[in-house]
Amino acid sequence: METNNKQQKKKWFIPLVLSLLLSTLLILFSIFVSSDSSSLLYLYRTRGRVEEPRFVESKLRLSATSSSDSVPRIAYLISGSMGDGGTLKRTLKALYHPRNQYVVHLDLEASSQERLELANFVKNEPLFSKVGNVRMVVKANLVTYRGPTMVTNTLHAAAILLKEGGLWDWFINLSASDYPLITQDDLLHTLSSIPRHLNFIEHTSDIGWKEDQRAKPVIIDPALYSVNKSDLFWVTEKRNVPTAYKLFTGYFHTVICNAEEFRNTTVNHDLHFISWDNPPKQHPHFLTIDNYQKMVDSNTPFARKFGRNEPLLDKIDTELLGRNEHGYVPGRWFDQANPNITESYSAIRNITELKPGPGAERLKRLINGLLSSEDFHTKQCS
Ligand SMILES: *[C@@H]1O[C@H](CO)[C@@H](O)[C@H](O)[C@H]1NC(C)=O
Ligand SMILES: *[C@@H]1O[C@H](CO)[C@@H](O)[C@H](O)[C@H]1NC(C)=O
Ligand SMILES: *[C@@H]1O[C@H](CO)[C@@H](O)[C@H](O)[C@H]1NC(C)=O
Ligand SMILES: *[C@@H]1O[C@H](CO)[C@@H](O)[C@H](O)[C@H]1NC(C)=O
Ligand SMILES: *[C@@H]1O[C@H](CO)[C@@H](O)[C@H](O)[C@H]1NC(C)=O
Repeated sequence: METNNKQQKKKWFIPLVLSLLLSTLLILFSIFVSSDSSSLLYLYRTRGRVEEPRFVESKLRLSATSSSDSVPRIAYLISGSMGDGGTLKRTLKALYHPRNQYVVHLDLEASSQERLELANFVKNEPLFSKVGNVRMVVKANLVTYRGPTMVTNTLHAAAILLKEGGLWDWFINLSASDYPLITQDDLLHTLSSIPRHLNFIEHTSDIGWKEDQRAKPVIIDPALYSVNKSDLFWVTEKRNVPTAYKLFTGYFHTVICNAEEFRNTTVNHDLHFISWDNPPKQHPHFLTIDNYQKMVDSNTPFARKFGRNEPLLDKIDTELLGRNEHGYVPGRWFDQANPNITESYSAIRNITELKPGPGAERLKRLINGLLSSEDFHTKQCS
């Protein structure tokens, strides 16, 4: 965790998670690796004075106040698997803004050729090499759906962002089947005016059927030791539900809600539009044009999940993002007619200035509603 840069050394998020990880590793790993219902995670890097947490390793330190920029920076992880290379590029371009940091990951199930192609794209895209804010996880992980390797992969990416990504304010974890519904100018503008210690995570301790089916079974994740992808498997013995802390639906959610200094930072919403069966099954619906109006009316900044080349994505590009095929989403930093920014990337403008549009208004409505709702506090870690 040690880095050369003094400021970077003070970043606390990974140390915190790791210290909690050590003590809860065995139990948590098989429990609530977040399902599709909690795929978006915002984590904040502290800016104010917070009581020193107790770390297992004494050399780990809490982050001090970081830059006081008025406009925040976001660190994104976008991950995919076999066949997701093309969608991942598209999602990356739709989310791109020079202020932010990006890590992309194609898991080991994807062929080396597919990963190489993505690596070349990241390396050769003139804008990325000029700004230097897009990275690929070169040492790819094998990730098992619902398995502990989903968490370790997220931690791996977060570690890269902490080590190499400079200062940033929120971490957002997305997959290749997620897509934004507002521009980054909209998002950064709206987030500029809300407290940076807030964590948008959807969670509940009312775990219902998950107690029997997720908390008690002992599982093995083959991706921890095999290079070939296969499903989790279950050991016949079951264990008791832990009593030393309370379980919430999601690994990070459990860690945050059991730490006194973070409980009050939670906002119980993951800022995604997702269409579920009623009652919800394991997987959400694939979104289609029929979901368009409801999706926009939800005021959320992200939606999932989208099939590859889903026509709804084109509609989002034209009507919500103003993005041309192959292009970037126009904002104050760039509003060229040429969608490919090959030669003209050098014309990046002042990236602190934003041009918020209707998406900023929608997101503001959503967040104001969440923060001012009467049951805001009662929904925190309950
Ligand atoms: C990160 O996002 C992926 C894709 O949405 C999701 O499957 C995974 O559970 C998330 N990981 C965490 C730790 O929240
Ligand atoms: C893993 O996959 C490779 C390629 O498909 C195959 O040759 C190999 O036998 C597999 N190994 C195991 C242990 O299943
Ligand atoms: C969290 O909020 C509760 C209720 O408002 C308060 O009693 C408690 O002191 C707060 N904890 C921290 C660490 O701020
Ligand atoms: C933009 O780039 C894509 C792929 O590199 C190419 O197919 C397309 O023709 C380009 N469009 C323009 C207007 O240059
Ligand atoms: C960029 O814009 C911001 C806000 O208008 C301003 O404070 C800053 O000085 C500008 N930076 C440069 C390099 O022009």
